[in-house]
Amino acid sequence: MDSVTRLGVVGCGLMGSGIAEVAARNGLDVRVAEATHDAAETGRRRLTASLDRGVERGKLTEEQRDHTLARLTFTHDLGDLADRQFIVEAVAENREVKTEVIRALDKAVEDPFAILATNTSSIPVVDLAVATQRPGQVIGMHFFNPVPVQRLVELIPALTTSADTERRTRDFAEQLGKRTVRAPDRAGFVVNGLLIPYLLSAVRMVESGGARPEDIDQGMELGCAHPMGPLRLIDLIGLDTAQAIAESMHEEFKEPLYAPPALLRRMVTAGHLGRKSGRGFYMYGDR
Ligand code: 3HC
Repeated sequence: MDSVTRLGVVGCGLMGSGIAEVAARNGLDVRVAEATHDAAETGRRRLTASLDRGVERGKLTEEQRDHTLARLTFTHDLGDLADRQFIVEAVAENREVKTEVIRALDKAVEDPFAILATNTSSIPVVDLAVATQRPGQVIGMHFFNPVPVQRLVELIPALTTSADTERRTRDFAEQLGKRTVRAPDRAGFVVNGLLIPYLLSAVRMVESGGARPEDIDQGMELGCAHPMGPLRLIDLIGLDTAQAIAESMHEEFKEPLYAPPALLRRMVTAGHLGRKSGRGFYMYGDR
């Protein structure tokens, strides 16, 4: 297989829609699958709104937006992905759901050489690989939020992943204009392995009354030139997602630094999930 021309994306939430947008902007024929017709429509609206924002900001012309949209199709039937050469699954970070999706894709996709990539941030890639009849062609492909902006993709070959799959996946990431790093198939991979304990430390600093969120964030933005401080960032990622990643890292390594602090758990229980719910460490009126 040379470059990928027919991509499938499963899940059109924050990550899936970003991946589909980047691929369509790079000229690929992209078919997006969501669980229901309504979810597919919501995904289409999210993606269209993102392209419209691009036009408003002068990033792309109206013509480029229209061509991008013309390269995207939406479905709520995984069977419609049968002719895809490469599929990225980006459904909810839930082991049962992801396993079911990857199994169904393995059956649906006709090309025996097609690659099934998972955008998981916390489930071992090997667990998903062995649920299929093609464990050599399953790999982790971890994108970063917002996908159209962040240049990195972590490549996570499982113990079962073939060298050819890894090479083709690296080529595909480059086709999308991304840079790659190779990460081990262990909880947190490379980036979250470093980022999550930092974010949890900032939550503990608020929890202990040590500093206010604004002061912590300004400290890191102005003192260390981070584009956003840790509490704005955890709001962007989603407190529930951060908690889930922290739990999987804590389960794997039993390292106390990875344990989600009580304040994070309470905020997730209260539905204060960050940007996506309108409230986290900050309030958001513009979601
Ligand atoms: N889609 C497309 N472009 C976007 C965008 C989006 N959703 N959001 C922002 N942009 C673009 C803007 O168009 C703008 O481009 P320009 O500078 O060329 O005009 C640029 O990004 C900056 O945007 P804004 O001026 O609106 O806002 P900021 O300057 O405050 O930047 C940010 C916003 C890009 C989110 C920046 O603050 C940032 O990079 N923050 C760090 C994000 C980060 O660390 N992400 C990784 C999270 S970890 C993860 O995802 C892994 C997971 O497993 C948890």
